[in-house]
Amino acid sequence: MKKNDIKKLLQWYQENKRDLPWRHTKDAYKIWISETMLQQTRVDTVIPYYERFLKTVPSIKALANVREDILLKLWEGLGYYSRARNLQKAAKMLQNNGLNFLPPIKEELQSLPGIGPYTVGAILSIAYDIPEPAIDGNVLRVLSRVFEEKEEILKPKVRIKYTLILKKLMKNEIPSLFTQSFIELGALVCTKNPLCEECPLRSCCQAYKHHTVLDYPVKKIKKEKPVLLKTVLIFEYHQTFLIRKRKETGLLANLYEFWTLDFPLNDNDVQEYLENENISFNKIKNLGEVIHIFSHQKWIIKVYSVSLNKKIKEELFVTEKDLLEKYSLPTVFQKAWKLL
Ligand code: ADE
Repeated sequence: MKKNDIKKLLQWYQENKRDLPWRHTKDAYKIWISETMLQQTRVDTVIPYYERFLKTVPSIKALANVREDILLKLWEGLGYYSRARNLQKAAKMLQNNGLNFLPPIKEELQSLPGIGPYTVGAILSIAYDIPEPAIDGNVLRVLSRVFEEKEEILKPKVRIKYTLILKKLMKNEIPSLFTQSFIELGALVCTKNPLCEECPLRSCCQAYKHHTVLDYPVKKIKKEKPVLLKTVLIFEYHQTFLIRKRKETGLLANLYEFWTLDFPLNDNDVQEYLENENISFNKIKNLGEVIHIFSHQKWIIKVYSVSLNKKIKEELFVTEKDLLEKYSLPTVFQKAWKLL
């Protein structure tokens, strides 16, 4: 890859880039929020979350001070909730150090929770135009094809190798355009089903030259995710619904859920279960099944609605409006709710 190839890539970017909200700002705080949301989440999904988040939490100060339940509600549906918690932790650390902004300093950014090498590179290059490479999955896919990278792309030494290569190529370029052009090429052209004929890098792409584009990137074969069979009971009492706060640690920590059992119940078993628990009910309805895939496990859930004769003691019952507006209900339980 030579200077002239980078010129072609930048030209292509100027002509083909998507109009995305975080491309109208140089505010490092906004770039940080967008890049954090974009990790593991698609652009189309992120856009409305990004805009809503910044309305409610427009600054580092606001982020440090926002109530956790409001923060999690703003994140509801994006998944990987530790990202939101880390944002707040980092904002608090900055405030404690008397900072209302993200410092344009690699070492300081690196020390903040949730900010890894990619995010450091993205903030420095996109917001501050400092030549620090930002290598995410999109960029790695492009590079692995251009260089026919034989190593597994997730190995640290691969990232280090390409960080050095990009750092050299970035010299004398505008860092924000450089970073975003690689990201954009990976998102629009050098995809799973690549559009090589449209690619500005095809003349320097080794994989294109050797007709091996689909062999790259080299990835480790993923282990199958464990499948967990569960049951969700949506208890209803006079148009209010039982929800519970999940434990403080582990998957979906501190978020809300319906009554959830770590084993599957068939229609007949539900009745027996309720009787054993001394829960007095009117009617049970089988609502079907929800399948949800998390990063490390897959849940297959049988969902039932149960209308109650009386409230279950010490449990929280909320209206539909409150459930949807006030409590953060992760996507897996939203899916169950939609069956109702
Ligand atoms: N994915 C990660 N960062 C991105 C960005 N800045 N624009 C579009 N997609 C992205």
